[in-house]
Amino acid sequence: MRVVIAKDYEDMSARAARIVAGQIYLKPNSVLGLATGSTPLLMYKNLIMVHHQVGLDFSEVVSFNLDEYLGLQSSNEQSYTYYMYHNFFKHVNINKKNIHIPDGMTQNVELECQNYDNSILERGGTDLQILGIGTNGHIGFNEPDIKFEATTHKVKLDDETIHANSRFFNSIEAVPRFAISMGIKNIMHAKKIILLADGENKADVIYRALFEGITPKVPASILQLHQDVTVIVEERAAQMLKTRSQFENK
Ligand code: GLP
Repeated sequence: MRVVIAKDYEDMSARAARIVAGQIYLKPNSVLGLATGSTPLLMYKNLIMVHHQVGLDFSEVVSFNLDEYLGLQSSNEQSYTYYMYHNFFKHVNINKKNIHIPDGMTQNVELECQNYDNSILERGGTDLQILGIGTNGHIGFNEPDIKFEATTHKVKLDDETIHANSRFFNSIEAVPRFAISMGIKNIMHAKKIILLADGENKADVIYRALFEGITPKVPASILQLHQDVTVIVEERAAQMLKTRSQFENK
């Protein structure tokens, strides 16, 4: 595990975008695992800039988003489908048929999950997975006490997640209670992972995820077992990673 402390949100986002751009230059048909939330927003903006300025080509890129709320139409501004098109896809030349996001309006959740897992496998697995982290340690929507062996599945959102994500909705009641999320197993199968954390409200959980025991209570802690993880933490989120020696041995 590499832990990079970025000097601010801009630096964190630029570093992440460079890794993603490098991946696409080296392998134009890369399979990317994509995240939503506030954290990767500027990374997406940077990638859009690289696309416009130097022609980074997304035409062969394949994407799989981590998760989607159940019960929100894709036209709903709070759906992750809307987020991805609005903040990224419509600004680059990715081929629509290569975009995958779980269908939050599916009538058959189980089948949707199975199909999602199969599509990832058919595309040869994820080359590079981008992750944010919830204040409760979730990655995707894999909430505390998740089974590490889970693949794509229906999730009941944690109260802490509902509260945290209510900032995007008109009221806490409007936040969906369920979602579809890739499982920890899907995430751990990715060849490379980038975990991003920004803001002092992530400091405690980043410390627990990287330096305390591996436990389903902090789902992101499983990443300690992955062979190729780059954690890019902006300074405020890194404030509990006090000494260099703490992460040099990781
Ligand atoms: C959301 C998403 C996660 C995201 C996390 C952190 O609920 N499901 O994929 O990483 O919470 O979000 P933010 O980046 O807004 O702090």
